[in-house]
Parts: sequence; structure tokens; C-alpha cells
Amino acid sequence: MTEDEKAVTVLGLGAMGTALAGAFLAAGRPTTVWNRTPGKAGALVAGGAVEAATIDEAARASRLVVVCLWDHRSVQQALDPVAGALAGRTVVNLTNGTPGQGRELAGWARRHGAAFLDGGIMAVPPMIGGPGAFVLYSGAQEVFDAHRDALDALGETMWVGADPGLAALHDLALLSAMYGVTMGELHAFAMVRSAGLSTTAFAPLLRRWTDAMSGFQERMAAQMEARDYTTGVVSNLAMQAAAFHNFYDAAHEQGVSPELIAPLYPLMQRRLVEGGGAEDLTGLVELLNTRRTTA
Ligand SMILES: NC(=O)c1ccc[n+]([C@@H]2O[C@H](COP(=O)([O-])OP(=O)(O)OC[C@H]3O[C@@H](n4cnc5c(N)ncnc54)[C@H](OP(=O)(O)O)[C@@H]3O)[C@@H](O)[C@H]2O)c1
Repeated sequence: MTEDEKAVTVLGLGAMGTALAGAFLAAGRPTTVWNRTPGKAGALVAGGAVEAATIDEAARASRLVVVCLWDHRSVQQALDPVAGALAGRTVVNLTNGTPGQGRELAGWARRHGAAFLDGGIMAVPPMIGGPGAFVLYSGAQEVFDAHRDALDALGETMWVGADPGLAALHDLALLSAMYGVTMGELHAFAMVRSAGLSTTAFAPLLRRWTDAMSGFQERMAAQMEARDYTTGVVSNLAMQAAAFHNFYDAAHEQGVSPELIAPLYPLMQRRLVEGGGAEDLTGLVELLNTRRTTA
């Protein structure tokens, strides 16, 4: 492979873009970087990167152009003026966005003669290039295959489908699960603090409990595939809903806002009304489809 074929451009040198560029450099890729605000490339240039003076120069420096900016709008603002320079190249957008935004960018790239992948980074910057990082990609498989070697520098690569919206869909689904756990943990810590107790002493207990209560994802998925939420249930919805009001009452007693745990209770009540008392909590997923029709 020639140096030209190995070359990568990274647009955006925030915390994540800097980590991405560093990983490409570490993998021996000639790396060109650009950032809207100059002055952020010092360490990368010291490590062998080339800092482009303009985004146009950066876009023309490599066949593979990786974009990691603030949001979808900033990507549009940055790329629109250099559409001509991106023709014939591959744009990989690793900026967080929605499935619709991923599809929109794919259409934009197609109209301007660029190949395109959308991506979702499942890591924080210090993890990039290490064994714990994985990055989701969607778009044409041949485009992914053509650049997989380069993208492997960032973390484990996973292609999730030809629909360019699917990387963002998976990314946001996984992040939603992370935020759900964090919301429960924040509420738990707030309860402990409200009693004047040590959060440090509580942390190992919280970890033990969340570890014990994780690992049911495959069982949940099987229940959803079968749309059978009642077989082998050990903690049914009626029992859980009966106890759930204690969470509100205890929070009020302790002067803690229940807002992080509040959304679950009305869903439990609705499912109970629908006759789901014998089900696992998994049955609540049926209520989340806003397009569902009542047969
Ligand atoms: N950090 C993480 O843990 C993490 C994890 C996974 C995914 N991500 C995603 O990675 C993306 C970047 O995150 P980050 O942590 O690197 O954020 P960041 O440190 O705040 O950096 C934001 C970058 O976007 C640039 N930017 C903002 N508006 C722009 C515009 N209109 N035109 C051109 N450039 C613009 C900034 O340039 P200036 O320096 O000129 O302001 C900067 O380079 C986000 O979509 C984020 O969701 C981040």
C-alpha cells in the first residue's frame, strides 16, 4: 500500500477528533488534521501529523476523510463549502447524530460524488485505539470493506448495515441504555446522600447490585421476539408495580426529587390496565411503539 493509499484526514480536533488522529498516527497512517479554531494540533504535529491551513486543503490531502465535529449542523456548515474537494473521496462521519441525519449526509455525499459511511463511536477519547473501544459503521458494505484496515486503528470495527442511518440508531440505542443505568444510579446516590451517608461506602454495594441485575439482555430479546412476556416469570409486573410507589414515597420522605425514576410508573400502570400483571417488565416495550395500532 502506498503512502497515498494509507493517508487519512481528520476534520475536527476536539477531545474525540484529537484521539482519532492520534490513533491513526500510532497505526502508521500519514495523517492530516484540520480544526476550525487553529492551535489545537500541536501535539499531533509533534507526533508526525500535518496540520492543513484550510479545510479544503485537508479534504484534498487523503482519500479517507474522517469527520468528528460538535453536531450535525456543524458538519453541514463545515462540509458544504468543500463539497467539490470531497468528490471521489470517502467521508466517514463520526459525529453524533440521528439516523435521519446519517441518511441525509449520505444523500448529500452521493450528490457530490463522495462515498460515505456514518459511524457511532462507542468509547470515550482515552479508549480510542485500545481494546475496549468499538465503532459502529453503516453505509455501503464495499465502502466499509475498502477502509476497514484504516478504521481498525480506532477500535474494533462493526458494520451494522447498508442503511446509513443504522450506525446512529445503534449508537443512540446503546447510549440510551447507558443513560438509563446512570439515571438510576444518580437517584440511588441522592437517596443515600439524603440520609447523610457516605457515597463512597455505598458505591461498592451499588456496583454489586447493578452487576447482579445485568446480563438479562438475551432473555429480554427472546421474550420480545416471541412476544411472550409471561413464561418463566419470577418477578411479575403486578408485584413490581405494587412496590414501585414506595420509590416515590421514600424519595419525598427524604427530600429527593423522583424525576429520574418517575417515567417508569405510569408505563407500569398502563400495562397493568392492559392485563399485563403476570408479565415480566419486558412487556413494557410494547407501549413504547408510538406507531402501534390497536388491533
Ligand atoms: N468525547 C466523548 O466522550 C465522545 C464519545 C463518543 C462520541 N463523541 C462525539 O464526538 C463528537 C465530538 O465530540 P468532542 O468530545 O470531540 O467535542 P469537543 O471537544 O467539544 O469538540 C468539538 C469539535 O467540533 C468543532 N466544531 C464545533 N462547531 C463547528 C463548526 N460549526 N464548524 C467546524 N467545527 C466545529 C470544534 O471546533 P473548535 O475547536 O473550532 O470549536 C471542535 O473541534 C460529538 O459529536 C460527540 O458526541 C464524543
